[in-house]
Amino acid sequence: MAGAASVERVTDRTTGLEKFVLREARGSSVEVYLYGGQVTFWKSNSGQQLLFVSNKANFKPPKAIRGGIQICFPQLGNHGVLEQHGFARNRFWSVDESPPPFPVSSSNCHVDLILKQSQEDLKIWPHSYEFRLRVALSPRGDLILTSRIRNTGSDGKPFQFTFAYHTYFSVSDISEVRVEGLETLDYFDNLQSKTRCTEQGDAVVFESEVDKVYLSAPQKIVIIDHEKKRTFVLRKDGLPDVVVWNPWDKKSKAMPDFGDEEYKNMLCVGAAAIEKPITLKPGEEWQGRQEICAVPSSYSSGQLDPELIRRMHTI
Ligand code: BG6
Repeated sequence: MAGAASVERVTDRTTGLEKFVLREARGSSVEVYLYGGQVTFWKSNSGQQLLFVSNKANFKPPKAIRGGIQICFPQLGNHGVLEQHGFARNRFWSVDESPPPFPVSSSNCHVDLILKQSQEDLKIWPHSYEFRLRVALSPRGDLILTSRIRNTGSDGKPFQFTFAYHTYFSVSDISEVRVEGLETLDYFDNLQSKTRCTEQGDAVVFESEVDKVYLSAPQKIVIIDHEKKRTFVLRKDGLPDVVVWNPWDKKSKAMPDFGDEEYKNMLCVGAAAIEKPITLKPGEEWQGRQEICAVPSSYSSGQLDPELIRRMHTI
């Protein structure tokens, strides 16, 4: 129906993979693949693609799709014995036909997906779980991801996991981008064998490879794209930490599914739980949420756009 929000399940003509397309009445849209439960596309009301997906991304399982929002579970990075970033990003998720009600209902324009242990996965991670993911698009175009993970084991044993929404934002020029909200925080520097350091600058800027996990970050982080005059506001719940990654030139060349120059146009910033892994006893459920919105900004000398301030308070 013209002008109304819609959710459609389609097979992508190029990749042959199934995805959901969410559309809101004012023009924003989101695409979510069943493969990886991965959001690959998020378009604003004004028609801009807000997430980065590499031109060389593989949409061929078992490789993860390079870009969008990767669900890293039950392990982030190499913080454990599993494959890098865990297995959720390269499994086929199912549609969750009857999700339990949400305490706070988000938009009506949403899709619910679910991932459960397979016999194969039990060999590498011997735990029973239900991972419910809701991807929602609000009427004004904000993208909201809510994960609910439950220990469904009958063995009486708890399990632990780490987690991240590994979010590839599209930026116009990485050297013109600054991230605010992480200053003065402690972080693990993956480029220095996870050494714990303290951020010194008044904002995070990018001049070389960055691969960090900021610890106990505030609920709201902003990513200011100076050149594009666009600011992303990231709000998180249940996820204390934040991953920040840009491979820069040398590592870009070493990645087969990433263009040599593409590091200039992307930045990964995502809500995460890493320092203190989440523990769930049988029957317990954890919830972690990330909301992102994009607003026009005219950032100069520390002044945020009034529209941004308004959105930061209402998101
Ligand atoms: C970051 C890691 O979170 O993700 C980096 O800290 C890694 O070390 C990057 O290179 C991308 O990971 P992957 O597995 O998608 O290539």
